[in-house]
Amino acid sequence: MSTRPCYNLDPSDMPTKWYNVVADMPNPPQPPLNPGTGEPIGPEALAPLFPMALIEQEVSQERWIDIPQEVLDIYAMWRPTPLYRAHRLENALGTPAKIFYKYEGVSPAGSHKPNTAVPQVFYNKQAGIKKIATETGAGQWGSALSYACNMFGIEAQVFMVKVSYHQKPYRRSMINCWGATVVPSPSDITQAGRDVLEKDPDSNGSLGIAISEAVEMAASDENTNYALGSVLSHVLLHQSIIGQEAEKQMEMAGEYPDVVIGCCGGGSNFAGISNKFVKNKIDGRDTKIVAVEPASCPTLTKGIFSYDFGDTARMTPLLAAHTLGHDFVPPGIHAGGLRYHSVASQTSQLLLDNIIEAAAYRQLDCFEAAVTFCRAEGIIPAPESSHAIKHAIVEALQAKEEGKEKTILFNLSGHGHFDMAAYDSYFAGELIDDAMDEAGVASALKAISELPKPVGYTGRSGGN
Ligand SMILES: Cc1ncc(COP(=O)(O)O)c(C=O)c1O
Repeated sequence: MSTRPCYNLDPSDMPTKWYNVVADMPNPPQPPLNPGTGEPIGPEALAPLFPMALIEQEVSQERWIDIPQEVLDIYAMWRPTPLYRAHRLENALGTPAKIFYKYEGVSPAGSHKPNTAVPQVFYNKQAGIKKIATETGAGQWGSALSYACNMFGIEAQVFMVKVSYHQKPYRRSMINCWGATVVPSPSDITQAGRDVLEKDPDSNGSLGIAISEAVEMAASDENTNYALGSVLSHVLLHQSIIGQEAEKQMEMAGEYPDVVIGCCGGGSNFAGISNKFVKNKIDGRDTKIVAVEPASCPTLTKGIFSYDFGDTARMTPLLAAHTLGHDFVPPGIHAGGLRYHSVASQTSQLLLDNIIEAAAYRQLDCFEAAVTFCRAEGIIPAPESSHAIKHAIVEALQAKEEGKEKTILFNLSGHGHFDMAAYDSYFAGELIDDAMDEAGVASALKAISELPKPVGYTGRSGGN
């Protein structure tokens, strides 16, 4: 058995194609619907916001899609990313399990988000777009998009949820470093923002409001487009590079995972690490694949599978996915990137078809796992990633209890260097343990009861 802690791929082994799981799913994701007509939307509905190359990827059935050379050249600045064997964590837990993690925190923005920001900006540049507008919650996506826009010389406008704008000032500084403009949302530079401010001048903002502002800016200027950092199929496609690399690195280690784990907000890093293993599972290889979410925003474990809007302001097409209702506002946990009421259609369909599983954990348990991890392995994880760590530890301790060998792979989607205030609160004992607002979910679900129903509509708790 090898005791190497790190498995690095040669740059020439970096994948040159993205893998599209839709080509292999027994039941492909159901089409987005026009909320007015209830009919599937055509590509023209997305054209005011996205370049045609991304719209084609969004609906593509092709299994493999070439990564453009210009994107590979930028990926090569930090990819292939390392895969580590967590020997020290295994020792700390006293487990017979072998734990591996793929580390996406080595990207310039510190997470997996640039894997899609770079191609999204590339295709916009190719289409002659001069500016991209986007929203950001905790700032990971806004900083990744700013980085990518800087690489291709495109202007970026980030609407950052006001509460995070003040809580995470250094994410804002990063956005400025890369030459982008960031404003707290709600802002007075869009009608959507002005409307909110008129009613509530002290509004803290929300992802829903920030999306409305970015979409309005993109829709009202033909030189400006919109970009989204998760949920959509083209975003998940771009993240597939993570799992393809991880599979090769596991081969280098002479291992194949029994369990593959990713934290799940909109679903992009989870799909990134797992979709290649999903393919292998569909092809006959037995693997447990687990998406991990916060107990305070339990979309996959407690949501219903239904059509719903992707945003609070009801501006997006209807998407078939597990949802807590677009009006649901999750508690203000520090894993800001996991505070989303819904999830990617692809991920939901895989759960519905029992190809993947879901688990949910509370904030304090995840911080405890993050600290155990950083004291063993040295890396300080993003609060989002701590959810994957928590489940990896649960699997490892189960292996210990059962005296069984098990190979575990999880995605460490980002570092937590700009989340230290959250760690300070945890150490000071001030971190409030979160709880799902049952009444909030019930009323948010009532608000969607009239929307069209997809095949497989659950109308009840949807998780495994
Ligand atoms: C470090 C990190 N991990 C995970 C996520 C969750 O997003 P997704 O589910 O799209 O991977 C985010 C979102 O911002 C993030 O910043």
